[in-house]
Amino acid sequence: MSNSIIEVSNLSVEYTRNGKKIRAVAGVDIQLAPGEILGLVGESGCGKSTLGKTIVGILKGAEGEVLFNGKSVEKIGRGRRDPHFLNLQMIFQDPYGSLNPRRKIGEQIADGPMIAGVSKSDALKKAQSLLERVGLPANAVDRFPHQFSGGQRQRIAIARALAISPTAIIADEPISALDTSSQAAVANLLVNLVEEFNMGMIFISHDLSIVRRISDRVAVMYLGKIVETGKTEDIWNSPSHPYTKALIAAIPHADGQSFVPLDLPGDVPNPAFPPSGCRFHPRCPVAQSQCSSVEPLKVSLKDGREVSCVLQEAGTMPKAITF
Ligand SMILES: Nc1ncnc2c1ncn2[C@@H]1O[C@H](COP(=O)(O)OP(=O)(O)OP(=O)(O)O)[C@@H](O)[C@H]1O
Ligand SMILES: [Mg+2]
Repeated sequence: MSNSIIEVSNLSVEYTRNGKKIRAVAGVDIQLAPGEILGLVGESGCGKSTLGKTIVGILKGAEGEVLFNGKSVEKIGRGRRDPHFLNLQMIFQDPYGSLNPRRKIGEQIADGPMIAGVSKSDALKKAQSLLERVGLPANAVDRFPHQFSGGQRQRIAIARALAISPTAIIADEPISALDTSSQAAVANLLVNLVEEFNMGMIFISHDLSIVRRISDRVAVMYLGKIVETGKTEDIWNSPSHPYTKALIAAIPHADGQSFVPLDLPGDVPNPAFPPSGCRFHPRCPVAQSQCSSVEPLKVSLKDGREVSCVLQEAGTMPKAITF
């Protein structure tokens, strides 16, 4: 019996573009425990948003399974009226796009509580107190999204997502569209609220320094697959998968001065034509001949990490790799 609030098993999601099938998510397993922050990282186009949207049920028709509190997300009502659905919320990168420009802020935040059976006046009071909690004036309830800055709008989107005290939240690049000065403030707010409400959160980001600061665990994604998961400090102190090693090596160092760019040969391959065997092999500095034909199995390390690499399976992973 698992105590996960989110349990993703062998999930695959396909798009069709110009008659070609793109397997944007290709057999992913991840779990989220109550109150846990899981950072989901990987280069642009690797499938992070597709995975997030499938988990909350915005994208349907996936293969495999997503369980939310033990219930299949596929079966949860799409009409936002199912209380199960309300308990699983998503915050998007673009807070303007996710708010309705023509409706007052207060009404938009009050929607969730009203669906859950709260009276309109109580729901509006709740909206006011949430707006204050996210650092906005209570009279913001009567204003419209365009009257706020990007950072403020993201605070509004957070207030709306929290209005019915969800048990889990998927935050897809929630701070990357904000100016640098509001990024840290909004990230801190989100983390404080996640703790206060005892929610679990999947935090999708390509900014590894923020992921390191806030996540309990990290999942590293490459071209539709999770190549490594583990506790944040283990991943940072001793990344195992060659791709994780490359990502960590590319992070600016603590002195803020030295910066090693992600220096892998080639670009992320087109997911319509994924490489055979291990999808990372054409860019991997330590690839062996079997890597182009053998799909790596997931190996569990002593510290609880899971790594998908044949070198890990064979016990021949070099400690350090030069990129
Ligand atoms: N609606 C769609 N139709 C067709 N292909 C899509 C669609 N949405 C995404 N894709 C493709 O699926 C793959 C994964 O996209 P996704 O947006 O999930 O990546 P991502 O990791 O979130 O990238 P980013 O960091 O840029 O946000 C990409 O190759 C993308 O081009
Ligand atoms: Mg994305």
